[in-house]
Amino acid sequence: MVLEKDRVETLRWRKGRLEMIDQRILPARFRYLAYHGARGVAEGIRSMVVRGAPAIGVAAAYGVALEAIFLIRREKNRARFAARLQKGIGVLAQSRPTAVNLFWALDRMRRLWEKNSARKLPALARILLREAHRIREEDVRINRVMGRHGARLLKSGMRVLTHCNAGALATAGHGTALGVFRSAVAQGKKISVVADETRPFLQGARLTAWEMVQEGIPVTLITDNMAGHLMSCGEIDAVVVGTDRVAANGDVANKIGTYMVAVLARRHGIPFYVACPVSTVDVHLPHGRGIPIEERKPDEVTGFANIRWAPRGVRVRNPAFDVTPYRLVTGLITEEGVFVPGTKKFLRWIDDLKKKRKLI
Ligand code: MRU
Repeated sequence: MVLEKDRVETLRWRKGRLEMIDQRILPARFRYLAYHGARGVAEGIRSMVVRGAPAIGVAAAYGVALEAIFLIRREKNRARFAARLQKGIGVLAQSRPTAVNLFWALDRMRRLWEKNSARKLPALARILLREAHRIREEDVRINRVMGRHGARLLKSGMRVLTHCNAGALATAGHGTALGVFRSAVAQGKKISVVADETRPFLQGARLTAWEMVQEGIPVTLITDNMAGHLMSCGEIDAVVVGTDRVAANGDVANKIGTYMVAVLARRHGIPFYVACPVSTVDVHLPHGRGIPIEERKPDEVTGFANIRWAPRGVRVRNPAFDVTPYRLVTGLITEEGVFVPGTKKFLRWIDDLKKKRKLI
């Protein structure tokens, strides 16, 4: 089984419960938190116990399965069971708005439920749980394939900048952007990583740096405002980031600050790649302007943990994501190959995705 070989098991199924690494306290402390139902999982997603688009999708799928398991012991009436399960799915859908993987996973679980709605309720709950396991295992397999496609773009000796954490912690294992680095290193290439700290939640400083140090992949931590300087000094050869949602024209939503990195990369002639499982492409949206951008609480900006550095009463903005226009994207690295937004090959691929999702 694929997951056992992974060093970081972001989400795991133990004794009838979902366990997730508490990413809010890494790397200072390492602990798992256990979840029993949709509401708990939704809160885990909202509060960033689990984060990263693919990991959020996997967690949500387990949330649906857990809710069904919880309900079979309490609700024998089929119509009331259905109404309560639907409510649980609704709560999960409200947890975070930007990562489309959340809605993709909920939709997949809902369709499976509808297909099996005539089954006895315990059998239905088992089917939903099996599907959640399948989504988790598929995610690791997809990341490995994506990693191999992406690794071909990197040459030995390259210094690659990444923003936020698109690693094993942001997925069920291996990672998307960090999966590309892992795969390149596994192919014997000498890759060194430059990790943007990623204000305000510090996913780069806390999570990417931790994953790379654990693995022995050379990593240098910088604050976000150092990226341009390093690029201008010729110290960055490529950028690889993850994404939370890609629109049909190739516009990319990712962690706040990504757009700035993409502009800098273009200014310095540095390739800017986005690692993106197909489930992160939102073919319903013609362009990135339609992507909902989560606005998080001001206290993430005015301080960190128990320390506050900004004066009380100051007005704060805290958009958690930004959109990089497709023209700044050198290539989308997916499990189906590398696509360059705006090209005929890319447009054909998007049309095929629309057909598969029955939009044409
Ligand atoms: O707010 P987060 O930590 O959930 O944001 C995560 C990111 O922006 C990642 O880059 C993205 O989800 C891709 S993860 C493979």
